[in-house]
Parts: sequence; C-alpha cells; structure tokens
Amino acid sequence: MVTVLAIETSCDETAVAIVNDREVLSSVVSSQIAVHQPYGGIVPEVASRQHVEIVNAAIDQALQDAALDWAGVDGIAATCTPGLVGALLVGLTTAKTLALLHQKPLIGVHHLEGHIYASYLTASDLQPPFLCLLVSGGHTSLIYVKDCGYYETLGQTRDDAVGEAFDKVARLMNLGYPGGPVIDRLAQQGNPKAFPLPEGQVSLPTGGFHRYDSSFSGLKTAVLRLTQKLEQETELLPVDDIAASFQETVAKALTKRTIACALDYGLNTIVVGGGVAANSGLRQHLKAAAQPYNLRVLFPPLQFCTDNAAMIACAAADHLNRGHTSPLTLGAQSRMAIADVMQLYTHSL
Ligand code: KG4
Ligand code: ZN
Repeated sequence: MVTVLAIETSCDETAVAIVNDREVLSSVVSSQIAVHQPYGGIVPEVASRQHVEIVNAAIDQALQDAALDWAGVDGIAATCTPGLVGALLVGLTTAKTLALLHQKPLIGVHHLEGHIYASYLTASDLQPPFLCLLVSGGHTSLIYVKDCGYYETLGQTRDDAVGEAFDKVARLMNLGYPGGPVIDRLAQQGNPKAFPLPEGQVSLPTGGFHRYDSSFSGLKTAVLRLTQKLEQETELLPVDDIAASFQETVAKALTKRTIACALDYGLNTIVVGGGVAANSGLRQHLKAAAQPYNLRVLFPPLQFCTDNAAMIACAAADHLNRGHTSPLTLGAQSRMAIADVMQLYTHSL
C-alpha cells in the first residue's frame, strides 16, 4: 500500500489529489473554464499562467483535506504527457521539485492511463485484462488493457475526438464552451429521432468498414448543414432536438464499436473513461447493449470522468507498488502513444 500525491495540469484544470492505492484521501480540482470561456476554447499560454498561480495552494489544500504532511506521502506524481507542453511543465516541474526536496520517488503518468484508472477508484475488484473506451476532448480510443503499463490501441478516431465534436457542435449553435455538458442537458428534453444524422464510418481498402475506428467530422458537418438549413426555415432553432439527435448518433456509433471489440477479443469487462464518459446518452446505450452479452460496463462517478488528479494518483500508486519510478530528467511531451508508457519508468525505487 502506498500513498501518492499527484498533480494534473495537462489542460484547463489545475488538480491535486492524494490516494492510498485506490482510496481517495483528498481531491482538489480548480477549473479554468471561466477564464477561457470568453475565447470559446482553451488558450494554452493563459492555461499555463493559471496553473502557476493555483498549483501551490491546491497542493496545500490536498494535504490539509487528507490530514497529512509530507512524511505521510510515499511518492509524488504528475501528468507528463499528452497535453499542452507549457501546462504540463507546471505540474511536472512542481512534482520534481517536491520529490527532490522531500526525497520521494517521482512517478510521471500518461494522462490517458489516468483516465483508465478512474474506474479503479470505485471498483475495488477491477483487474486487467479489460477493454477501455476512452472518450475525451482530445482522444477517442478503444484500448486493450493488459496490465499496469501495458496497453494496445485497437481502434481510434480518424479525425475529431468525440469531445471535440460535442464542443464544435455546441459552438455552432452558440451554446458556449465546453459543449458536452450543455448538449447532454438539452438532449434530455429533445427528440433523438427528430433529425436522422449520418454515423461516420471508416472505409477499408478491401471494402466494407472498419469495425473499431470512428470518424466524427462528417457528422459535425451534417449538423452544420442542418442548422444552416433550419435557420433559413424557422426563427427559433430546435436546439433540443438537434442536441438529442446528435447525441444519440454519437452514442450508437461508440456503442456499436465497443461491443464488437469486446466480443472479438473475448473481454467481458468494459471500462469507460474521459470527459465524455459523463454523457447520459452514452451511459444508457452502452449499458443496454452490453446486457444481452453479460458484459460488465463500468463508468466512473461524474467527478472522476473529467480531468482530475485522483485518477493520476491511482495510476501512479499502481506503478509505485511495482517499483516503477521516473528519473528527475523526465520531460513533458505533447504526445505519446499509450503503448509506450513504460518508457516513463526506470524500474528502480
Ligand atoms: O477528459 P476531459 O475532461 O479532458 C480531456 O482530457 O480532453 O474531457 C473534456 C471533454 C470536453 O470536450 C467536454 O465537452 C466533454 O469532455 N464532456 C462531455 C460531457 N461532460 C464533459 N461530453 C458529453 N457529455 C457530457 N456530459
Ligand atoms: Zn482528460
């Protein structure tokens, strides 16, 4: 059993958490959404500066909430990839400084591995192997989770990430940023059958369609065309019905690929992670489709779907328990395939 303090600054949340293996002792999340809202999206330099201002107070708060001092912390972790490099550097440099100062091991964490571990925080019996559907603002992947640190990407989006599609569709209806939660709310009052929309398919050179890869740019363009047409025909855009139709198309597309992948690979547990795991349409569709096949589907609680540091600390604790630690020379990288995460560790305590 290890206690890890983790810092997450890969995007627009400054988050610090302390976990003991899978038990959350404290979790502080400070969202920058209000700061970026006037720009309609995240401004990287603004994000980095906000992280610098908030990170130390968030660390103090996390220690206070957990009623711990540094003596009670076994390791210090930070998200080091993928993400905005300037933003990642704030958390990583802070973690390195604290590791050096307090003589604790450093554990760099891949952000997507963190999203996978979000489900470990509430499912104490969860063990690999399983399939993870990872759906966030930057990624849409089906990942075969073999063991801690060992992953294979089986499917992914060929263009927009699904969260990005939610954000873009919301923007074209002037619903603000981030779009996912607003569309989810409006969709619950709308008719999902109001407007038939095309589910993006990825063609194979040999004919037919890819079973696991997805595409959302065509769907986004179809929503754009639909809104342009409706704006000419009506005064008040039926945003509820458009949101419901879009959400249902996305939920069905993701569900179809996820179930096919789990069955093909003989994996009977599906774990969903990332901000879009909060989506009510996806939750309903995937659970319903999994039932006839007796597949177990796990969605993290809402506060662990979107970016947080508890999931990062949980992944780091699993690595630390296995003796995986990172050198103080570890760098921040804007991208890294999840299959390469073991490159972050030197295997020595
Ligand atoms: O995982 P996350 O917090 O950050 C990244 O690592 O990208 O995901 C953020 C994304 C945003 O695109 C946001 O619109 C989307 O998750 N999101 C949702 C919902 N809540 C957040 N999308 C659909 N339905 C939601 N309820
Ligand atoms: Zn994320």
